[in-house]
Amino acid sequence: MPAPNIDTIVSLAKRRGFVFPSSEIYGGLGSAWDYGPLGVELSNNIKQSWWRWLVYERDDIEGIDSSIILNRLVWKYSGHEATFHDPLVDCRECKTRMRADKIEGKCTNCGSTNLTEPRNFNMMFRTILGAAAEEDDPAALAYLRPETAQGIFINFLNVQTAMRRKLPFGIAQIGKSFRNEITPGNFILRTREFEQMEMEYFVKPDAEHLQMVDEWVELYLEWFRSLGISGENLQLHEVPADELAHYSKRTVDIMYRYFPERAEQERQWEELMGIAYRTDFDLRSHSSKPADEEGKRVNPDSTEDLSYFDEATKQRFYPHVIEPAAGVNRTVLAVLMDAYSEKTNDKGETRVILKLTPQLAPIKAAILPLAKNKPEIVGMAKAIKRSLQPVLRAVYDDTGGIGKLYARQDEIGTPLCVTVDHQSLEDEAVTVRDRDTWEQERVKVAELAEYLHKRLKATSPVQPVAPATNLDV
Ligand code: GAP
Repeated sequence: MPAPNIDTIVSLAKRRGFVFPSSEIYGGLGSAWDYGPLGVELSNNIKQSWWRWLVYERDDIEGIDSSIILNRLVWKYSGHEATFHDPLVDCRECKTRMRADKIEGKCTNCGSTNLTEPRNFNMMFRTILGAAAEEDDPAALAYLRPETAQGIFINFLNVQTAMRRKLPFGIAQIGKSFRNEITPGNFILRTREFEQMEMEYFVKPDAEHLQMVDEWVELYLEWFRSLGISGENLQLHEVPADELAHYSKRTVDIMYRYFPERAEQERQWEELMGIAYRTDFDLRSHSSKPADEEGKRVNPDSTEDLSYFDEATKQRFYPHVIEPAAGVNRTVLAVLMDAYSEKTNDKGETRVILKLTPQLAPIKAAILPLAKNKPEIVGMAKAIKRSLQPVLRAVYDDTGGIGKLYARQDEIGTPLCVTVDHQSLEDEAVTVRDRDTWEQERVKVAELAEYLHKRLKATSPVQPVAPATNLDV
């Protein structure tokens, strides 16, 4: 049973220290959010899982970390200065500003159809570089990156030569991106500052590009399911040709059911990530050599040619790119929604259990003393916590009765609780309690680290994905 709606997660996230509204003491800042002590762990665990999966476990992908502020020319030749905009409309009645493509001709605030004509609004955040620059100096104008991808393209040659790579290979990057969204909202689903996990996979021009999109879709579905997301809540969406980004020949979005409370036909689904075939658009347009029909260089500003020489065929060409682009924040939200469940105890009380996979759980084991006024029990519990910490993330907690402590750990997704009781002082054993079944087992302290390690490694079986509704290519 996933969360019934996003609001349930917003309240849990604030109550338990996952995500807080940003700048709250000054009234907030239009849909900006801060990760709290547990949220930062969850988000780091997701990013680590992604990095391990692509950069460490595969042999064909390198990682980088490029700047957020790049030379403005990057955004000129990537096409973002000219085309990275959304259609904006104003309501003439109540003055609300909205995205024209999301409202079906009616003001979302007052329902009026008296709207201005749509006009383009560029979503890149502007800034001015240098202390001496004037506000309107075009030479000092720069942007915060709206995608991490361009930092990868402009480093293609650096990575390829430094790491002596041959096609096919990929470059992965995790980092913040910024978009001046017209209508941010729905918690961390759409914000102006967010984090992306992007990978550009470079292949030969004659590769089976469209089919490679499907292959990456399958790999990502498998990865999302390994994070505990149920296949029932994932769906594919083939982006129609007239909605493709300026660089894309084909894009398949993986959608998550972020709005289960809505009727099926009322947009239950929103994009979790997209997998695009970007052709050779980016490498070609950042290159110094290509010329137009009159022989004029298309990019007179670039100093490099980002083409690739294939030793086997003795041919030079611009590699083509398959790009899986995922959002960290949207993955965090999908993971939280899918992990949410409720269970009724013997007393008929409803308890929240966050069934996070052990890999993603912010805390792997909580060490709890049964009596906090007994120094020997407290001392033993603290010593166990300290001894476990080098091998797994453990916490010590004595801020309530044992029932309350268990309930709190269930609600933040801690897979195992370790209780030290009076008997432990005699038999050097503790009780290990399972988050999902509430079953308890007695384990010798000397064997505890190995026992916990084994329990945390065991993974639950993954479920198949819901049938795709619109995958006609
Ligand atoms: N380089 C391609 C690219 O950026 P995108 O579909 O615009 O593609 C990729 O973005 C992913 O980044 C999205 O699927 C989503 O997960 C995340 N994302 C984009 N805009 C976002 C926003 N305003 N807030 C949160 N996440 C966002």
